[in-house]
Amino acid sequence: MKVLVCGGAGYIGSHTCVALIEQGHEVVIYDNLCHGSLSAVDHIRQLSGADVRFVQGDVRDKAALESVLSSGFDAVVHFAALKIMSESCRLPLLYFDNNVAGTIALLQAMQATGVHRLVFSSTAAVYGDPDVVPIKEDAPLRACNPYSHTKLVMERLIQELCEARPSFSAAILRYFNPAGAHPSGLMGEDTGGVPSNLMPYVSQVAAGMQDRLHVFGGDYPTRDGTGVRDYIHVMDLADAHTKALDVLRVGGCHVLNIGTGRGYSVLEVVSAFERISGRRVPYEIVDRRPGDVAEVWADPSHAQETLGWHAQHDLLRMCADAWRWQSMHPHGYQSAQVIELRQAMPSGSCR
Ligand code: UD1
Repeated sequence: MKVLVCGGAGYIGSHTCVALIEQGHEVVIYDNLCHGSLSAVDHIRQLSGADVRFVQGDVRDKAALESVLSSGFDAVVHFAALKIMSESCRLPLLYFDNNVAGTIALLQAMQATGVHRLVFSSTAAVYGDPDVVPIKEDAPLRACNPYSHTKLVMERLIQELCEARPSFSAAILRYFNPAGAHPSGLMGEDTGGVPSNLMPYVSQVAAGMQDRLHVFGGDYPTRDGTGVRDYIHVMDLADAHTKALDVLRVGGCHVLNIGTGRGYSVLEVVSAFERISGRRVPYEIVDRRPGDVAEVWADPSHAQETLGWHAQHDLLRMCADAWRWQSMHPHGYQSAQVIELRQAMPSGSCR
């Protein structure tokens, strides 16, 4: 298939581009470089050996999307969204504009150009604080911050379009906690400074870039009192996207949990990381972080049945690949060229 990857220069997008090309698909990347990076595009080309076309553009720019899509595409994979929960609480309008208005523009452009297949990047954050774990796809949806609300609205837009236009098919992938990096160490998550997610923060502590990890809460009703999450290797996520694309050949609208089905506590992640890196990860237990919940992990059986997909990488592998990326790119993709490009972008294109 010829596939437009919106947000393909970002963390999960870049790994998915390489996986798609390895499966024989032709990829065009569309990204505004707000969080994505040209270095990621270079590494996609290097790792895949393909001369991938890159188009700098914003997902809210319907005319630009139509112009790209009009050259004839079979499918779109849509990652182009803002995703920082705390930022979304400060900037809800920006989040709804970028995420929801961007998805409307993309769907309109797809309709106008006759592109009918979509793989959409959603999140387990739509479940909020679940009543039971493991979580199945039909669990109550309890988005509880602007970021997860935007994802719910984006999911609903896609589902409504599938209902209204049976020729339109979609796979909505609800990721649990993405972690790890490409095994080459060439691609990974560029957090652009101090990370807010656990695994990149632990990597920076192990590398000596942060003093210690603040463990948010030691009094949760879990096996060691710290929060439990379902960490999923970014290579497994990428693989889920390629399999979802295959399933869309026969149509439908699928909502799928993408997780391992196993939860690890914060302290278990720390201990795995110490083992892999051979470094100490000092930590201090502090107050709970507002909005956090005790335990979240997936029932991924629907993805297994529908896509024939299951996670192949375990926690130690996630830590090993995250550590390799951290060691090879202590400051992410940061380079003079990327900084210059970011500065040259029109104001308001990101925030
Ligand atoms: C977070 C986001 C969620 C997003 C997901 C994946 C919040 C509340 N939720 O989920 O919207 O979909 O990332 O990007 O931000 N922890 C620490 N110390 C830290 C960082 C994290 O103890 O410095 C703990 C957390 O309390 C949690 C676990 O580590 O128990 C995982 O945290 P994190 O990586 O931020 O992911 P989530 O909170 O699950």
